[in-house]
Amino acid sequence: MAVTGSLDPLVTFNVALDEVTRQLDIDAASILYLNPYTQTLRYAAGRGFCTRSVEKTCLRLGEGLAGRAALEKRTVHVPNLSESSEFTRTGLFAVENFTAYYAVPLIAKGRVLGVLKIFHRLPHEGNSEWLEFLETLAGQIAIAIDNAELFHNLERSKTEITQAYDATIEALSYALDLKDKETEGHSQRVTELTLRIARKMRIKEEELVHIRRGALLHDIGKMGIPDDILLKPGKLTDEEWEIMRKHPMHAYQMLSRIEYLRPALDIPYCHHEKWDGTGYPRGLKGEKIPLAARIFSVVDVFDALINDRPYRKAWPKEKVLAELHEQSGKHFDPRVVEVFLSLAEKNLLFEEE
Ligand code: C2E
Ligand code: SIN
Ligand code: SIN
Ligand code: FE
Ligand code: FE
Repeated sequence: MAVTGSLDPLVTFNVALDEVTRQLDIDAASILYLNPYTQTLRYAAGRGFCTRSVEKTCLRLGEGLAGRAALEKRTVHVPNLSESSEFTRTGLFAVENFTAYYAVPLIAKGRVLGVLKIFHRLPHEGNSEWLEFLETLAGQIAIAIDNAELFHNLERSKTEITQAYDATIEALSYALDLKDKETEGHSQRVTELTLRIARKMRIKEEELVHIRRGALLHDIGKMGIPDDILLKPGKLTDEEWEIMRKHPMHAYQMLSRIEYLRPALDIPYCHHEKWDGTGYPRGLKGEKIPLAARIFSVVDVFDALINDRPYRKAWPKEKVLAELHEQSGKHFDPRVVEVFLSLAEKNLLFEEE
């Protein structure tokens, strides 16, 4: 249990070596780990050696006694090393004065993962019970290595999948900006600024990942708006507005089907709600509007107004900030406007400022 109790191979090796040297009453032991790509056995951990030279051990599969144990998947026992021509590093082991030697392959699910080596300075003949215990321990070490590998591969896969999702979302977000004739980098900019304000407002770290995804995809619902409306150079008619105002609902329909994006829905679905309850699609009021969406709407309107849109020219920054101030408590959550304007005052809205 001690040997298989950890997912860190080094902890496993050290516990195993403590048990081996204590329970089997031997002088020194080391574990070699098999690299499956290069097919070499390298030192991983050791106990009871006089010098550190053992740490340099590197054997090809089949090379030396340990290499043979791994290749042939069986225990190699040498009662007297001085009589073995295969024992290569006589110089080193002359210092150690070892006599008896065992190399036990570490095998889990039929796969060789390494070798456990045992050294004794006096002649040593283990009885069959002793040998059985040695091989049982070797089996437990192998299981522990196998578990740790499984666990780390799983963790790596999870990280790779998350990275693939996020890269896909960023590409989609970029495509949406192009489609919407947004200014270069609009979605990236509003995403970064939204995260900055969210941190200032002490939103929990684990929620930030969903805010990031939601902000990048905030106007994904505009994919459902016909181009002649989306890109119309002038004011929208009442009928056109009715269609345009459906874009948050389209976002809800699209994203709620994707499990990992459901927690990211607040911004795409609620970014046109207004603090005083006059927004759309649901006319939510005050704190009924998710905080992420309240933060985002200030940032999105700011970025929309300081840039040219197909339907109007950019406004000067002072005029935009005055508008945000004017809309505090009407369109926007006053707390968010306060944080936003304090960042603006200190020129902290963008990284490059
Ligand atoms: P958008 O261009 O990304 O604008 C996002 C939000 O910024 C707007 O949401 C609005 O709250 C604010 N905003 C943008 N421009 C102005 C402006 O000139 N004055 C004021 N006071 N606020 C502005 P809103 O109004 O719900 O509009 C949603 C989307 O509808 C806009 O996204 C845009 O795609 C479209 N849209 C809005 N007005 C017009 C228009 O007059 N003509 C056309 N062709 N599209 C429009
Ligand atoms: C062997 O175990 O095959 C050679 C001795 C060593 O490198 O430790
Ligand atoms: C950030 O990138 O600044 C936080 C959000 C995330 O973890 O993706
Ligand atoms: Fe929108
Ligand atoms: Fe936007």
